Amino acid sequence: MDKFRIEGGHPLQGEIPVSGAKNSALPALAACLLTSEPVKLRRIPPVRDVRTMEQLLEYSGAQLEREDGALTVRAAKLDRPEAPYDLVKTMRASSLVLGPLVARTGRARVSMPGGCAIGARPINLHVAALEQLGARIEQSHGYVEARAEDGLRGALVHFDRITVTGTEDLLMAAVLARGETVIRNAAREPEVQDLAALLNEMGARIEGAGTSTIRVEGVASLHGADHAIIADRIEAGTFLIAGAITGGDLVVTGCDPDHVDALVVKLRQAGADVAEISPGALRVRSSGRPRPVDITTEEFPGFATDLQAQYMALMTLATGISFITETIFENRFMHTQELARMGANIRVEGRQAIVAGVPELTGAQVIASDLRASASLVLAGLVARGQTMIDRVYHIDRGYEKIEEKLARAGARIERVS
Ligand code: EPZ
Repeated sequence: MDKFRIEGGHPLQGEIPVSGAKNSALPALAACLLTSEPVKLRRIPPVRDVRTMEQLLEYSGAQLEREDGALTVRAAKLDRPEAPYDLVKTMRASSLVLGPLVARTGRARVSMPGGCAIGARPINLHVAALEQLGARIEQSHGYVEARAEDGLRGALVHFDRITVTGTEDLLMAAVLARGETVIRNAAREPEVQDLAALLNEMGARIEGAGTSTIRVEGVASLHGADHAIIADRIEAGTFLIAGAITGGDLVVTGCDPDHVDALVVKLRQAGADVAEISPGALRVRSSGRPRPVDITTEEFPGFATDLQAQYMALMTLATGISFITETIFENRFMHTQELARMGANIRVEGRQAIVAGVPELTGAQVIASDLRASASLVLAGLVARGQTMIDRVYHIDRGYEKIEEKLARAGARIERVS
């Protein structure tokens, strides 16, 4: 069980490169199941969740190979359209194979995702959407069994609430359905747009991705493609906050500034200087304690829930009280107890955390609970006085590529200890 040992108090300097987006890589890999031809994907980050998705594809019968930094998937024959429990239990996003497997093979057997630290994470909206395309779906023994022997047919689907992977699952089923599918109240995340771009490169006919209404004209089959996925906006945001919280002068490179606008506005209001100094390069500088600035998480283009914990770490040092409201998940404040062990003053009332800024944090032994909460503890450790030990860093490895190496190259005193 790896841990991170961090010695706080070292402002970050220099450059940090951003990897490809984990939450774009996962649907892109699932999309490879839709064709028998090879699909080449670039900028796939070698993080734990991506490895889990690769195992899922291989379990279904696809062949994968890595060459010159690209990953090629050949799903010529899918003789086992299934996602077994022991893989799904480690990654809820496994439900992303449901849509493509049903669309391509006419059947799918996917384990129900267990809950996870941040909430119940049901997939009822995924199931309801696929049923509207004609799939017959039963749930038994912890598995979702879907069938559509005579294929899927397009329909008008309205999501009761915005769901990112629900939109992606449906998109990947609709591209091979007979006729037109209209998706209303679709997620507008950049990762949804990136998936639609890949699917269109594979011969799909999708319009409106990135808006709340997406139209899909089904086609008989898809062909291969060569696609570079977008940069990871959550990793980029995490590093921007790292530069701000340590009072450093840091350039985050290889990112898409449009995808982190909501955070950049808040960082500027809190007193940091953030500027795009060249295409894809954001420079963040700050000194002294941040000003208190409230946030409410919302679906894109609102403030990303995946950056809420990291932003809270910054607000624990603000010169006043800030209100952090989490509207997406019902239990995404686990990091508050761990931050409190480092001296933060936070009170949670339902969906709201009230953060009273303190002059300094002190290093402590803390435990990571989920991917983004762990990132928040790393940020707090970078600025806390003394040493911080973070246990269960496998949570971090799910979504960040060698975070300790990237931070150390920018001046952080952080090392992985087994
Ligand atoms: C995606 O999860 C991301 N994961 C999450 O990132 C991210 O936090 C989330 O979107 C919100 O932006 C991937 O893209 C792989 P949702 P997803 O469906 O699609 C409820 C990370 O840290 N809901 O948009 O699972 C759900 O419980 C991860 O990288 C239903 O009720 O999130 C939640 O309250 C964490 N029924 C809300 O909708 C459903 O069928 C939004 O969830 C589906 C979702």
